[in-house]
Amino acid sequence: MEFNDVLDARRSTRAFTQQPVPDTVLDALLDRAATASPSWSNTQPYQVAVATGAVLDDLRGELSRRFERLSRLQKAPAWKKALAALRRDPGLPDGDFRPVVDYPDDLQPRRVATGRALYQRLGIGRADKAARHQQMAANFRFFDAPVALFVFAHRGLDVYSVLDAGIFLQTLMLAATDQGLGSCAQGALGLWRSPLEKHFRIPARYQLLCGLSLGYRADATVNTFQPDKLPASALRIPVR
Ligand SMILES: Cc1cc2nc3c(=O)[nH]c(=O)nc-3n(C[C@H](O)[C@H](O)[C@H](O)COP(=O)(O)O)c2cc1C
Repeated sequence: MEFNDVLDARRSTRAFTQQPVPDTVLDALLDRAATASPSWSNTQPYQVAVATGAVLDDLRGELSRRFERLSRLQKAPAWKKALAALRRDPGLPDGDFRPVVDYPDDLQPRRVATGRALYQRLGIGRADKAARHQQMAANFRFFDAPVALFVFAHRGLDVYSVLDAGIFLQTLMLAATDQGLGSCAQGALGLWRSPLEKHFRIPARYQLLCGLSLGYRADATVNTFQPDKLPASALRIPVR
C-alpha cells in the first residue's frame, strides 16, 4: 500500500473475523516492527508476548472472569472492597502500572467525547449500562481476534523504554495494516499481569504496558467508527 493509504486505513478494529493469521504472516510482521523501529541508543528495550490458540482461549476466559469480578467489586460497599484488597482478590488489577481513573480536566472532555461518539455509533444509549458493560467486556475477549499481543517495556530506562515501546507498537500496527490486518491497542489488557505469568516466562525487568488484538477486520458497525481528531494547530505550542 501507499504510505498515506496505510495511515488512513489504520483505525482501531473492535470486531474481528475468525480467520486465523498464518504464523508466517505474524512472524514477518513482528520482524518488520523489530527491525524498522527506532529506539533509545538502539537498545530495543521492549518485549512482546504473543498469544494464539489454546493460550489465547485460556487468557480470554481468565481476563473476562477477572473483569466481571472487578465490575462487581467496583459496585460493592467500602468494607467489601477493603476485604478484597486484604485477600488480594483476583478481580483487583495486578498490572505494573496504576490504571488511570481520574483524567486531568483538560483531557477528560476529549475522552468523554470519544466514548460518547462510539456508543452513539453503536446505538447504545447513555442509560444503557448493560450494553456499555458488554462493550467494555469485549476488550477482554480481544474482540474475538485470533491473536493477542502483550507489550512490555524495560524498567531500567524509565519513560524512554515506554516511549520506544509505543513507537514499536505503532510500527507494528502500520505494518499489520499494510498486510490487510486490523488491530486495536488496548490499555485494558494491561490491568492484569498474573494471568500472563502462567503462560509466558516474562523477565522481571519488563513491565506490562498494554495489549494489542490482531486479526482480519469483521464487517461490523463498530469498525466504521472514526473518532474526531484535533488538528495539528490545537496540539501546537504557541510561540511567545
Ligand atoms: C495505548 C492505547 C491504549 C488503548 N486502549 C484501548 C482500550 O483499552 N480499548 C479500546 O477499545 N481502545 C483502546 N485504544 C484505542 C483508542 O481508543 C483509539 O486509538 C482512539 O480512539 C483513536 O482511534 P483510532 O485508533 O481509530 O485512530 C487504545 C489506544 C492506545 C494507543
